[in-house]
Amino acid sequence: MCGIIGFCGEEEAVPVLLEGLEKLEYRGYDSAGVAVISGDGVIRIRKRKGRIASLREKIEAEEPLPGTVGIGHTRWATHGEPNDVNAHPQAGMSGRIVVVHNGIIENYREIRQFLERRGYKFLSETDTEVVAQLMEYYYLGKGDLMDAVYSMLDRIKGSYALGILCSDYPGQLIAARKDAPLLIGYGEDGNYIASDVTALLSHTRTVSYLEDEEVAVITKDQVTVYDAGRLVVDKELHTVEWDVSAAEKGGYSHFMIKEIMEQPEAVRKTLSPRLRDGRIFFEELGEDPAFIRNCSSIYIIGCGSAYHVGVVGKYMLEKHLRIPAEACLASEFRYSDPIVGPDTLVIVISQSGETLDSMAALREAKRRGARTLAIVNVIGSSIAREADYVIYTWAGPEIAVATTKAYSTQLLLISMLTVYFKDQLGKITPEEYDEYVDELLALPDKLDQVLARVGNIQKTASKYFNLDSMFFIGRNLDYALGLEGSLKLKEISYIHSESYAAGELKHGTISLMEPGVLVVAIATCESVLDKTFSNMVEATSRGADAVVLTTEEHAGNFEKTVKAVLSVPSTHDLLQANLNIVPLQLFAYYVALNRGCDIDKPRNLAKSVTVE
Ligand code: AGP
Repeated sequence: MCGIIGFCGEEEAVPVLLEGLEKLEYRGYDSAGVAVISGDGVIRIRKRKGRIASLREKIEAEEPLPGTVGIGHTRWATHGEPNDVNAHPQAGMSGRIVVVHNGIIENYREIRQFLERRGYKFLSETDTEVVAQLMEYYYLGKGDLMDAVYSMLDRIKGSYALGILCSDYPGQLIAARKDAPLLIGYGEDGNYIASDVTALLSHTRTVSYLEDEEVAVITKDQVTVYDAGRLVVDKELHTVEWDVSAAEKGGYSHFMIKEIMEQPEAVRKTLSPRLRDGRIFFEELGEDPAFIRNCSSIYIIGCGSAYHVGVVGKYMLEKHLRIPAEACLASEFRYSDPIVGPDTLVIVISQSGETLDSMAALREAKRRGARTLAIVNVIGSSIAREADYVIYTWAGPEIAVATTKAYSTQLLLISMLTVYFKDQLGKITPEEYDEYVDELLALPDKLDQVLARVGNIQKTASKYFNLDSMFFIGRNLDYALGLEGSLKLKEISYIHSESYAAGELKHGTISLMEPGVLVVAIATCESVLDKTFSNMVEATSRGADAVVLTTEEHAGNFEKTVKAVLSVPSTHDLLQANLNIVPLQLFAYYVALNRGCDIDKPRNLAKSVTVE
């Protein structure tokens, strides 16, 4: 979703801002802009609908933007269509205050009316212009910048990460946050703000995370952070381990394919620190056996792909722990009056750790007294910091909007947690435990084997990329995986696609089966394999084509019946999904490639969804 970069330093701001914005492109946006303040206090703004490249052209074509202090923004439209006027930065009427903003100001209409009654004229339809105008109103009235900042923050309701320039203070920028991520980067050539660490990696690895209601005043050699009561806060500095190359394409044509190929490594990095002498450790949980023994129910919460991991987790945890487990969409959990209390374990899954729905669900779970555990990829993100316990996926930066390696590492952790808890409950035999660990150790190599079969998947994708409709079917864990296979396909190729529990097909959806429809049957769960096969035949009998994803040992049986078989090695039941997902990711990727889609930045989508 929207991205923020800000710089206050020695060198010209424009190149730093544009480079930062390019690094934020992956988050999804539809317009972009920068504002730079010159030494004599003139703030110049350039903004444009469309890609950063087009903003760069505009900047190069027009009068220069001198200055070493500036803010930049990529906007994903919420209030007002994507156009040049609604793009950020937004300015107050006199041009003294200029603002970039992520989040939503819920009471913007009321404030706008308040200001309009006092003669303020608005140019855009955005909630952000209201912030700039309101702050200017307070600044002109009070004459003190920090008073104006705090009065404005007191008045607005909603979520915000803000970067603010004031023409009377050409050497500084101000940042503030509530319920939207914002971090400060401490560099040798100056200081930075950013909504996302990837925008800072080429300048600094030393960062601090702004907390809700904190305000930072940033100059080229100083950062001062204040809390809501205007007291100075001593910020803890963190070193970011991710390196720059991890956030670059490294010779691949898309981040998505690079990230798919990185999965064996991501899985290795996620499992090795938690595996010693054949035993699984989750030191993050404090090694407290009571953690799971006192648990009467489990909720696994997330959005999109993270929710799909939750569905896998529901099957795994419930079956092996014999504790009722439910996967719940974060956006529904919060409003469903869930039965959650101190003996409930709520697991929140999120790559970004900033998804607003997931964050709100986490807070709701905490409010009801649940024990909360976050599985998160981005270190220091809001969800990671607010949950009682956090387990990090070590997938590294994920840039493509469509998640792949983060999803895989989440799957792995849910599977490892299942075995870890099962052991703590005394429900696993030593033989079962060892068998699982053996397969865990073999997983990265088996993933390499699946990736080596890319040619077959490419061929299948080029056969079907022109279709308008596809269905993913499976039972049990294969069904849970189909949800993700279907989402991957539709988000990047724009082909209509749905996922069904195979047995459900005949209760309505079978009416859509006809020539020109593809059914992707996932048939790897031994206990229900024959049943999935029958459901697939029901579809092909009505003219649909079928592609089957199955294990090597069953591939031969299917080859006689269907046009294409994608096979994967067999592994432990609790790890099979990790192998199965790879062909589905590759299939989606090559279908989208054949269709000429913008794979890393699919239309209308954002990497991190920070609005409700
Ligand atoms: C996945 O490919 C999607 N882009 C999306 O569904 C994503 O998984 C969802 O928005 C949740 O994001 P999070 O993991 O950062 O919370």
